[in-house]
Amino acid sequence: MHPPLLSPSLLAGDHAHLAASARIPANLGLRWLHVDIMDAHFVPNLTFGPGTVAALRAAGATQFFDTHLMLDEPHRYVEAFATAGASSISIHIEPAYDHQATLARIRALGCQCGIVLNPDTPATAVEHLLPHVDLVLVMTVQPGFGGQSFRRDTLAKMRTLADWRAARGFRWRLEVDGGIDLTTAPECRAHGADTFVAGTAFFAAPDKAAFADAIARL
Ligand code: DX5
Ligand code: ZN
Repeated sequence: MHPPLLSPSLLAGDHAHLAASARIPANLGLRWLHVDIMDAHFVPNLTFGPGTVAALRAAGATQFFDTHLMLDEPHRYVEAFATAGASSISIHIEPAYDHQATLARIRALGCQCGIVLNPDTPATAVEHLLPHVDLVLVMTVQPGFGGQSFRRDTLAKMRTLADWRAARGFRWRLEVDGGIDLTTAPECRAHGADTFVAGTAFFAAPDKAAFADAIARL
């Protein structure tokens, strides 16, 4: 299992000042930033596009952009996000497209690649892709909005994936996203997660350094 890593979600930042919001975790020494891309088809909401990602880079953001594509047709956009400055690109298993070819394309573009499961999607749905990814993202809420409550029924799936990782010698990160705070992150850690997306809990924390320290000590 990797050391714990916090990936603050820019979705919970100030959308009129995204570059300033990106600097908040960077100034605390946090290396990752989670960037949520929504298309109003796969999820009922809209966020940013590749132009925003490029603008964040142009404004000086140097952290690892952990890019979460919540799109019906992610294969059509991976090149645009890689060119814009994504560091990793994670794609959902649920829509129908060639997942394996898209993961390979992401790597060929020089990015790390991840596969994402919605809360009701079983671990077996991604089993065939596990040798081909750098990250597995277990959604702990139904994607689309920040500020939702953590779903404890996803913990068993984390354990399954973590057990497969250990038994089969995989090296990918096991990331969790949705309702992650200082109560739910330890539960996920106990079930094998190592990478913690936090939007609301991070940006609303009065002492963000203390929040980051607590995650680092998990
Ligand atoms: C939800 C997004 C999450 C979101 C999490 O669809 O994928 O990354 O930012 O927000 P919180 O931490 O507020 O649940
Ligand atoms: Zn996300």
